[in-house]
Amino acid sequence: MTEKLMMNGQPVYILGIESSCDDTAAAVLADGKMLANVVAGQEVHRNWGGVVPELASRAHQQHIVPVVDEALRQAKIGKRDLHAIAYTRGPGLLGSLLVGGSFAKGLSLGLNIPLIEVNHMQAHILAHFIEGDHPAPQFPFLCLTVSGGHTQIVRVDSPLRMHVLGETRDDAAGEAFDKVAKILGLPYPGGPMVDALAQTGNPNRFVFPEPKADGFDFSFSGLKTSFLYLVRDEVKKDSGFAEKNIQDLCASVQHTIVNILLKKLLQAAHATGIRTLALAGGVSANKGLRDAMKGLENQGYHVHIPPFAFCTDNAAMIAMTGYFKYQEGIFSSAEEGSMARYPLG
Ligand code: KG4
Ligand code: ZN
Repeated sequence: MTEKLMMNGQPVYILGIESSCDDTAAAVLADGKMLANVVAGQEVHRNWGGVVPELASRAHQQHIVPVVDEALRQAKIGKRDLHAIAYTRGPGLLGSLLVGGSFAKGLSLGLNIPLIEVNHMQAHILAHFIEGDHPAPQFPFLCLTVSGGHTQIVRVDSPLRMHVLGETRDDAAGEAFDKVAKILGLPYPGGPMVDALAQTGNPNRFVFPEPKADGFDFSFSGLKTSFLYLVRDEVKKDSGFAEKNIQDLCASVQHTIVNILLKKLLQAAHATGIRTLALAGGVSANKGLRDAMKGLENQGYHVHIPPFAFCTDNAAMIAMTGYFKYQEGIFSSAEEGSMARYPLG
C-alpha cells in the first residue's frame, strides 16, 4: 500500500477517464468501490453508419468537462480529494484518446497528484474487480474479451500480469455484429439490435460455415461475407426477404458467433487446465453469449459475467485498473503519448 493510504487511513479516491472511441466517460472509485460512473454517448455517428473519428474527438472535447464535473458531483467529493487520475492511453482512435489523455495530464499537473496510464483492454478485464455484489474471479482465469475493436482470449495470472493466448485475425466479434446489422439496414451500433431481434428468432434456420483460424485465434470476416451473399441471393428472389426473416437471420448469425467464441475458449481451457472463465467487453452484453457462458457452469466451470454497466465502455474499469497500479506505486509521466495500438501484456 502507498504511504498516503497508510498515513491517513482515508480511502484512496481515483478518477478514471475513458475516451478511446465514441463514449466520453468519467468515474470515481474509493478503494475500488464505485462512487460514480458517468458515460456520455455520441449520437452524432448514427447518421454515418459507424464512428467518424473527427466527429468523435470534437464530441469528446464538448463532453469531457461536464462529464468529469458530474462524476465528482455524484461521488460527493471535490477535485482536491482525489489521490490519482487514471486515463485510457490506448488502444483506440488517436484523436479521441488525445482528448481524454490531455485532460487527465492537465488535471494531474494542476492538482499535483499522480497520473496513471491504462490499457483499455486490460481495463475491460479488471472491471470484474470493481467492488459490488458479484464475486471477483480467482487467479488464474481465462477471459474472453469481445468488443467492437478486439476479440481476445487472455490468460490472467494477476491484475497486472496478462497474456494474450489468441485473438482475431480480421474483424472483431462486435464488428461482425455491427456489419451484419448494417446489411439488414439496422442503425449503428447494430449489436444490441441483433441481440434483441435474435430473442424471438430460430437460431437453427440458417447455417453459416465455420471459419478456419489457427490455435486460439478467431476469424469473422468470412461469416460477414457468407451472410451478405445469403441475403443478396435471397433478396433477388424476394425483395422482402430480409424484413420477413429478420429475427431468424439475427438468431442464426448470433448463434454462429457465440459458437465460434465458446469453441475456442473451451479449447484454451482444455489446453491450460484453467477452469475459471470470464467475459469482458461490449459484446458481453449479448444475451445469447451470456446464456451460453452461464451454461458452462453445468460442465464444472466457474463463470464470471460482468454487470451490464461494465460491459460496454466505461471509466469505472479505467479507475479500477488505476487503483491496482496505484497500490503498486506504478505511475506515469505526462510525456507518455497516447497510442492507437497498444498491445496487451
Ligand atoms: O467494448 P465496447 O463498448 O467498445 C469497444 O471498445 O469496441 O464494444 C462495443 C461493441 C459494438 O460493436 C457493439 O455493437 C457491441 O459491442 N455490443 C453488442 C451488444 N452490446 C454491445 N453486440 C452484441 N450484442 C449486444 N447486446
Ligand atoms: Zn471497449
